[in-house]
Amino acid sequence: MPILKEGQLDIISHSPEQTQRLGVRLGTLLRPGDVLCLSGDMGAGKTVFAAGIGKGWGAQTPLTSPTFNLVHEHTREADAQRLFHLDCYRLDSVDDIDAIGFDEILNGRGPVIIEWPERIAAALPRQRLWIELRVLEPTRRNFIFEGVGKRYEELIAKFRESTFGV
Ligand SMILES: Nc1ncnc2c1ncn2[C@@H]1O[C@H](COP(=O)(O)OP(=O)(O)O)[C@@H](O)[C@H]1O
Ligand SMILES: [Mg+2]
Repeated sequence: MPILKEGQLDIISHSPEQTQRLGVRLGTLLRPGDVLCLSGDMGAGKTVFAAGIGKGWGAQTPLTSPTFNLVHEHTREADAQRLFHLDCYRLDSVDDIDAIGFDEILNGRGPVIIEWPERIAAALPRQRLWIELRVLEPTRRNFIFEGVGKRYEELIAKFRESTFGV
């Protein structure tokens, strides 16, 4: 687990199950308003990871690929909080996100998970957790976490601690 610098983390996942478990760990740490960007090619594992995040957060419904809906909203029983899961693959222009009420989603006081965030780069908040997924081999994926802003540097530090104990 090489530590690149403060606010960065580089991890290898060896299986979809491991990716899910990593997501679960991250999901338990999320707070309202957190923005997570999952970047990587088709099949990289963004949705597998997001599904783990939803599980760890406590979503009452499983996170599945929202490609055809652009946005899925989930709730949890404990405190009626909401979690938003977006897939921007089908957006041609950043203007299209007005149609899904992106501002309201960002102000919706729930964590927001965004697949294909580069499609809406201009609309993203500057402070966010950016996670880059790369396919290394059929079942190996490289995850690079980069936190922009104090909250996300702290989130990475907590995630590192809960995953690796350091
Ligand atoms: N280490 C791994 N982590 C995540 N997915 C993996 C891994 N190894 C193989 N896979 C497979 O890759 C695919 C990832 O699909 P998905 O999460 O839908 O990708 P994306 O949302 O990035 O397009 C799944 O079929 C999954 O089983
Ligand atoms: Mg996906």
